Amino acid sequence: MPIPALHIGDLAAKVPIIQGGMGIRVSLSKLASAVANEGAIGVIAGAMVGIHDPNVFKNPRKANSEALAQEIRKAKEMTNGILGVNIMVALSDFSELVKVSIKERIDIIFAGAGLPLDLPQYVSEEVKTKLVPIISSGRAAKLICKKWLAKFNYLPDAFVVEGPLAGGHLGFKPQQLDDPAFGLERLVPEVLEAVKPFEDAHGRKIPVVAAGGVYSGEDICKYLKLGAAGVQMGTRFVATHECDVDPAFKQAYIDSSQEDIGIIQSPVGMPGRALLNAFLHDVKAGKKFVFKCPYHCITPCDYTKAPYCISSALANAQKGRLKSGFAFAGGNAHRVKEIVSVKELIDSLKERFLSCCPA
Ligand SMILES: Cc1cc2nc3c(=O)[nH]c(=O)nc-3n(C[C@H](O)[C@H](O)[C@H](O)COP(=O)(O)O)c2cc1C
Repeated sequence: MPIPALHIGDLAAKVPIIQGGMGIRVSLSKLASAVANEGAIGVIAGAMVGIHDPNVFKNPRKANSEALAQEIRKAKEMTNGILGVNIMVALSDFSELVKVSIKERIDIIFAGAGLPLDLPQYVSEEVKTKLVPIISSGRAAKLICKKWLAKFNYLPDAFVVEGPLAGGHLGFKPQQLDDPAFGLERLVPEVLEAVKPFEDAHGRKIPVVAAGGVYSGEDICKYLKLGAAGVQMGTRFVATHECDVDPAFKQAYIDSSQEDIGIIQSPVGMPGRALLNAFLHDVKAGKKFVFKCPYHCITPCDYTKAPYCISSALANAQKGRLKSGFAFAGGNAHRVKEIVSVKELIDSLKERFLSCCPA
C-alpha cells in the first residue's frame, strides 16, 4: 500500500514516522530538523537540555528553558516541516519547558515518563500546539482522556504507545518487560480499544502511534496493519550523521551485541534500557559515585540515595565520555551496523514498506 500520511489535528506528516525525543541532548535541532525535512516529525528532547550552559549550576531551570527555546529556533531556521518537543512529566521544570515550547510555537508536545494529567492547562484557543501523551497501557490512555475531558474539555491530539523494547526509561515493572502480555503487538490494539469510545462520542480521531523496537519497513507495515496511525522510532535515528551525539556514542551502538543491551534500575525510579558498559557494571556491583546535586532535575530522584547522577552520566555519554556514563538504547540497537544520513534511513524505510506492505 502507499505510505499513508500521519495526521495529528491539522498537521499532516507525509511520512508516518515520529523521531522519538532523546535526552540528554541526543535529539536536538540538527536531528529534528533533518527528520522534519524528510516529511516525518522531528523531536527535540527537553530533559536537561541546558546542562552545558555555564550558568546551569546557578539556575538550571533558566538554563534549560533558554536552551530549549534556542534549539526550537535553530530547528525552525533549518526546516519548515513538523517539529515537536519531548518533555518528561517527571522533570521538575516540566511546566517551564511546556510554557517555553508553546511560546516558541512548537507544533507538538510529547509528554511521557509519568501521566501528563494537567498538560491542557497550558493551552488556549489561540494555541495551535498539539498535545500527545506517551503511555504504556490502555488504562493510562483512558484515564488521560477522562481527566482531560472532565477538567479541560480537551482530548489528546494523539497517543504514542511505547512498548517494552524501547530505549530509555520504560513505563513497566521489570517483570513485565519480557511478558508477551505487555508486548507492543498487544498494547496497540488495547490502546485503540481504549480510545474508541472517546472518538465515537466526540466524532474525531485520536491517532495511536506505536513505539519501542520498531526497526524496519516490515515493522512499520505490521503496526499500521494493527491500526496504528504511525510509528515512533528512537534507536535508528541515533545511528545517523545528523544525530546530535558524539561519534563514540553512535559507535557504541554499532559495536554492541544483543548481550550488551540490558535493563537498569534508574535513579529516576523506573527501569531503563541501555547499553551495559563498565560504568553500569560498577553501579550494579554496588559502587557509589560521590556527587552533589546541582540540578534537582527529576522530581522522584532521591539524590541522597542514588549511586550516581543520571544527568551527569547521560551528558558524559552524549559527549562521548562513555567511561563516566552510559548510553540509553532500544532492544534492537545491536542490529545497527552503520551510520547513515536521515534521508538514507527514511528512504530505505519507505522503500521497504512499499515493497513489503500489501494493501
Ligand atoms: C538514547 C535514547 C534517549 C531517550 N530519551 C528519551 C527522553 O528523553 N524522553 C522520552 O520520552 N523518551 C526517550 N527515549 C525513548 C524514545 O523517544 C523512543 O520512544 C524509543 O527509543 C523508541 O524505541 P526504539 O529506540 O526501539 O525505536 C530515549 C531513547 C533513546 C534510545
